[in-house]
Formats: sequence, structure tokens, C-alpha cells
Amino acid sequence: MASEIHRASTTAPVNIAVIKYWGKRDPKLNLPTNSSLSVTLSQSDLRTHTTASCSPTYTHDELILNGSSQDVSGARTQACFRELRTLRKQLETTNPSLPALSSMPLKIVSENNFPTAAGLASSAAGFAALVRSIANLYELPASPTELSRIARQGSGSACRSLFGGYVGWEQGSQPDGSDSLAFEVAPASHWPTMRAVILVVSAAKKGVSSTTGMQTTVATSSLFPVRANDTVPRRMAEMQTAIQERDFESFAKLTMMDSNSFHATCLDTWPPIFYLNDVSRAAIKAVEAINHAAGKIVAAYTFDAGPNAVVYFEEENEGIVAGALRKLVGEKEGWKGEAKSDDAVVEKVVKEAGVVQELLREGVSRVICTGVGEGPVKTDEHLV
Ligand code: DP6
Repeated sequence: MASEIHRASTTAPVNIAVIKYWGKRDPKLNLPTNSSLSVTLSQSDLRTHTTASCSPTYTHDELILNGSSQDVSGARTQACFRELRTLRKQLETTNPSLPALSSMPLKIVSENNFPTAAGLASSAAGFAALVRSIANLYELPASPTELSRIARQGSGSACRSLFGGYVGWEQGSQPDGSDSLAFEVAPASHWPTMRAVILVVSAAKKGVSSTTGMQTTVATSSLFPVRANDTVPRRMAEMQTAIQERDFESFAKLTMMDSNSFHATCLDTWPPIFYLNDVSRAAIKAVEAINHAAGKIVAAYTFDAGPNAVVYFEEENEGIVAGALRKLVGEKEGWKGEAKSDDAVVEKVVKEAGVVQELLREGVSRVICTGVGEGPVKTDEHLV
């Protein structure tokens, strides 16, 4: 039938790294200079929903994100389409009774349940959903690890969004990238009590993109080789142990030190790159004050290529961590439940906050309360 439309849909999560990917050894294939590790966040709060469709009646490949048409001619999107079509073509060659989907134009429709402009890792969820939905459409017998090789070429961090829970990305050493793949460190069920509050900080102007920023860092920073060759390999191993043992204090310290190390290489880039602003630094101070008042490490901050703070903590400390952050930031869109009544630790943090409280109140536009979550989920809700 000429008018037939084939379709498949999925949702895919955002991930926030606790050991950061920063630096490419091959910019075309998005092969990194170091391994990285992230926590996949719950799709109830942050997800991309994508329908991949193909039809002999379509005239060209098309991608629509949140209602507006996107350019698909870029090398990254093209690489994903090409790789997935090649895998489909192999199936069709082996089994000629299959419909020739690989030669039909694709129409991909995608929607985020969070504001794209908030500067959250939307490219990671976006490319993970794009690759997973086309793989479903093509009925490819590919595992998340195999698909991570393809999603990586869309955006490096996207390879980690094919899994839920705690996810590593092995840098690999092959020039063709065949061993630069994502892997599951632990499922969400291994450590389900991990929570995160994202403080969305409004940036005056858009900063340097991660792609450009990391290239400049690799080319100019003298701190960078130490980070890539020594610091990160050591911390990758320590972080995996911390996760296996559900050792929050080690997890948190490594997370904060790695974020600081990454932003130090940004400052050491020439010309320097500043992703953190005064509000971000106020968030760091707030987390330090919370940990100090609690008498142990109960919260960890981390920052990507922008000013938003992501604060990880365990559910049992929600009252202290989210409670103190809420008092400091004020009643903004996104807090869940009632504001907690007084708590000695929270009181202590607020009493000593001073200018930190002013900066957070003024600079945080909204918050997102979330936690560790699952990987991509197939859905029958189609957008085409
Ligand atoms: C700071 O994955 O956005 O968020 O591969 O060029 O698309 P490209 O970069 P991208 O970089 C993410 C960098 C980061 C750290 C991380 O997520 O590991």
C-alpha cells in the first residue's frame, strides 16, 4: 500500500555526569579523551518523547522538535541515520520479505517535557531518543551498548542516555570508535534512593557550546592532560566502587572534585571559558554549608557547560538538603510537596547564608526535583 506509514516511539532520559566527558580525540566520531560516568535522571521530570516514522510517500528526511523543523543535514544527524539504515539494510538483505524501510525517507517528531532553553542536557536525551526510536522502527536486534556507538556520534553524552541508573562510557582506543561504548555500572534499582535537585540559573547570554569549548580546552590547557590521563582514570575506578558500595560520601566527594577539575580546565583554557557564575558559586557555598551543618557529606554539586547546579543527595537526607536549598532559593516553580517546617540543620545553614541566600533568590529561576531513573521506554503514544 503506497500510503503506509511505519512508526515506533520511545521516551529517553537526561543524564548528568558525575565524572565529566570533556575533550575529544576524534571530533568527527565524538571519541573522547577520557571515560566518563553519569546518573540517568527520572523521565517523569525530564524526558524526550520521539516517534520515528518512515513511508514511501515521504519526500525527504525530516526532524521536528517541539513543533519546529530542525536541520537534518548536519554531520551528526546524518551519521546516526546512515548507521541505522545500514543495520536495517543488512536485515533486509538477509530476509528479502521484510519491507524496504531502509530506503524510505524518515520523519522524526520529538517533544521535550522540559524547556529546551533551560540549558539542560537536551542533546543527550534527544539523540538517545532519536537512535532508540529508529532502532525500534527498523526492528534492529541491537543492544543499548551497540546503539550507544551510534548515539555517541550524534552527541557524546547521548550514548549514556541509552541506559538507566548509573552509566559509564568507556573511552576506548580503536580509531574507528568500535570500543567507545556506554555500559551499565549499576541499574537504578541498585541505588534507588539517589535524588537530585536542579537549580536552573538564568544565564545573561549563551555561553560557549560544549563542542567548541572542549576543543579549545584540549588545544590550549596545560592542566588538561593531567586531568585526562591521570585524574579521571583514577576517579573512574573510585566512582564505580563508590556506586557498587552505595557509599554516598565517596560518591559525593568525587562528584564535586570532578566538577571542579573540569571547570578548572575551562578557566585554564585560552581564551578562558567561564561556565560558572556568581549564582553557581553561591550554590557551591550552599552545599558546603549544608555538609558542614550536617557534620558529614550529605549533598554534592556538579555543573555541566552552563551555570545550572545539579545537587545530588540521598532520599533520607531530603529534609536537610532540599529543605535548606528551598529556604535559600525561596518558593520557586518546581518544588514538590509542602515546604518543611523548621529543622536545626536547615536553620543553621540559613542563618549563616548571608549573601549566598540573596544570590540564589535572585538568580535561580526555577527548580527541578528529580532522582535516578530508568533508561529509554518504548511507548505506543505516537507523535506522527
Ligand atoms: C559538560 O555531549 O554536549 O555535559 O559530544 O560535542 O555533543 P558533544 O558534547 P556534549 O558534552 C557534554 C559535556 C558535559 C559533560 C558530560 O555530560 O559528561
